[in-house]
Amino acid sequence: MRHVLVIGIGMGEAEGLTGHALSALGRADVFFLLDKSEGAGELVRAREELIARFGKPGHRVVRAPSPKRAPASLDSARNTYEGAVADWHGARAALLAGLIAGELGEDQTGAMLVWGDPMLYDSTLRVLAKARAQADFAVEVFPGITALQALCAAHALPLNAIGEEVLLTTGRHVAAATPDAPAFAVLLDDGTGLAALAARGFQGQIWWGANLGTAGQVLHAGTFSEVAGAILETRAQVKAARGWVMDVWLARRDG
Ligand SMILES: C[S@@+](CC[C@H](N)C(=O)[O-])C[C@H]1O[C@@H](n2cnc3c(N)ncnc32)[C@H](O)[C@@H]1O
Repeated sequence: MRHVLVIGIGMGEAEGLTGHALSALGRADVFFLLDKSEGAGELVRAREELIARFGKPGHRVVRAPSPKRAPASLDSARNTYEGAVADWHGARAALLAGLIAGELGEDQTGAMLVWGDPMLYDSTLRVLAKARAQADFAVEVFPGITALQALCAAHALPLNAIGEEVLLTTGRHVAAATPDAPAFAVLLDDGTGLAALAARGFQGQIWWGANLGTAGQVLHAGTFSEVAGAILETRAQVKAARGWVMDVWLARRDG
């Protein structure tokens, strides 16, 4: 039977891979790279370097342009956004089903490298579940260090206060409304979530990190009202200088 390994690669550094992820990289006959054309050439290169370094001799790399997602603006109705994502996943599933059936021999193993961990704000597993309706293959998952773990480690910070609930959310949700949770961790923010929270006068603490695990990692922490402006400035500077920025942050309410 065909196998597809979904390998969490953490922040893309060889040192951050688990032993299981390393062995999985050495098992694959074919690596599938779906180019999202994010313009983040560095991130694509990080994946290629891991494959070149840890892939077994004779492995192949199959590239395909990822189907494009229809744009959905921040204020678009929830069903428009979810509909656009569902269509996009359907197109990716059809593409992957075709690649797996066409590029893998009956008993061969393919692999997909996922930034961070496949369970956190990543749709590879959902898309593969859809693809399995169209092609016969088994899936094995190898966890990776998430951006959230990298953030907490960089700040030497426990994610939760004692017995505290922590909400995981996105910049899109925070831009729409401040979460009720005592603490919330925010991924996929283009800066609008942070800016909206600042505009609403959020009272609490923030721990922020951008481009974690790369040479240009940047950190900020402190009282939200005192550091939010500097974080937004740093974010813009990193993006201008490097061409891309990915950030994650944890906020905790006062009291
Ligand atoms: C599509 S999600 C993928 C999350 C990933 N699966 C994980 O486990 O970390 C992308 C978001 O993860 C966060 N992220 C990923 N890599 C990061 C990095 N190197 N530094 C800071 N945040 C990062 C950012 O919030 C980014 O918008």
